[in-house]
Amino acid sequence: MEKRIFLSPPDMCGEELRYVNKAFDANWIAPAGPDIDAFEKEICALTGASHAVALASGTAALHLSLIVNNAGPSDDIYCSSFTFAGSAFPITYTGAHPVFIDSESNSWNMDPELLEKAVTDSIANKRTPKAVIVVHLYGQCANLDAIQCVCKKYNLLLIEDAAESLGAICGNVQTGTIGDFGIYSFNGNKIITTSGGGMIVGHNRELLDKIRYLSTQAREPFPYYHHTTIGYNYRMSNVSAAIGRGQLTSLESKVEKRRSIYEYYQKSLNGYNGITVMPRDTFGKANCWLTCITIDKSSSLTPDIVRLALEKENIESRPLWKPMHLQPIFANCKSFTNGVSEDLFDRGLCLPSGSSLSSDDLERIVEVVRGLTPQPPLRKR
Ligand SMILES: Cc1ncc(COP(=O)(O)O)c(C=O)c1O
Repeated sequence: MEKRIFLSPPDMCGEELRYVNKAFDANWIAPAGPDIDAFEKEICALTGASHAVALASGTAALHLSLIVNNAGPSDDIYCSSFTFAGSAFPITYTGAHPVFIDSESNSWNMDPELLEKAVTDSIANKRTPKAVIVVHLYGQCANLDAIQCVCKKYNLLLIEDAAESLGAICGNVQTGTIGDFGIYSFNGNKIITTSGGGMIVGHNRELLDKIRYLSTQAREPFPYYHHTTIGYNYRMSNVSAAIGRGQLTSLESKVEKRRSIYEYYQKSLNGYNGITVMPRDTFGKANCWLTCITIDKSSSLTPDIVRLALEKENIESRPLWKPMHLQPIFANCKSFTNGVSEDLFDRGLCLPSGSSLSSDDLERIVEVVRGLTPQPPLRKR
């Protein structure tokens, strides 16, 4: 059996161990230390964000962004439906109600018109429209100009879920730095990883300081433990930050590599037997975290046929995210849909897109897919 090709495995560049060894030598193993501070500064320098706080996960970052804005049971929070559940779960931790918004077909991200419909519905139902969590899915930026207009019109907080889009450009700025807050994930499958971790960035220094305080169990500056508020154990460890600093040195080349993988699939699979490689948005420049395909209903292929054929050859692929409005756990939540994300879920597949893929790996993947062309049916005599 040939070696397994994973969807998006960690890609160590070699610098990580240097940082980690330094952290070990200095015994900075705790969720405090110089690498955390440096990693935050480096993320700010790279993205242009004003302030950053390193946390245990992207999910924790979203949760704290809602807490410091006092989200609660009377609030409606609008979230992209086409996403991973980590975008939506934190809404429920605060008692606020998630309202799911379907996608536009060109970017696969939140549809601003449906968003406005949802906001007016909340107002009509005497709910408080509070915040928007807009996802830049698969590293492709959402229609932020239009979404920002809705946010301004109704005075909504804008939180960018840039978990998958570090390094992607929206207009001419980095995703995550445009809204009131942006979050990044450094989970093992992301474009850079700290094994597990996240970061929140934002413009409001006071609120970011509050997030830092809450993430360290709301410890007050006393020699003894003194608490005036409920805290969370959400801070990133110094060792994780050291890995992140090493990873960050290769972010640019990782983004370039993922973009070239997109181009390769585009060149070798687009238009083949009903396959369309995902569109590239016009709002900016995607980091191409994952390259996905959709398959026409008229094709002899289906996402499952392709997935199982790849699996047989020890190659991992995955259906697109199942929309939140179809998830049993969110069955009682409101959603504003247009069929786009359901159709994408039905017809889509994520292909291996890791930055460590070799050209042989890519050829192996494409050969399996192209080898699936059915033979013409036997003619009846
Ligand atoms: C779009 C999106 N949002 C949020 C998250 C949550 O991030 P984390 O796994 O770091 O908690 C992820 C991924 O893991 C994600 O893909």
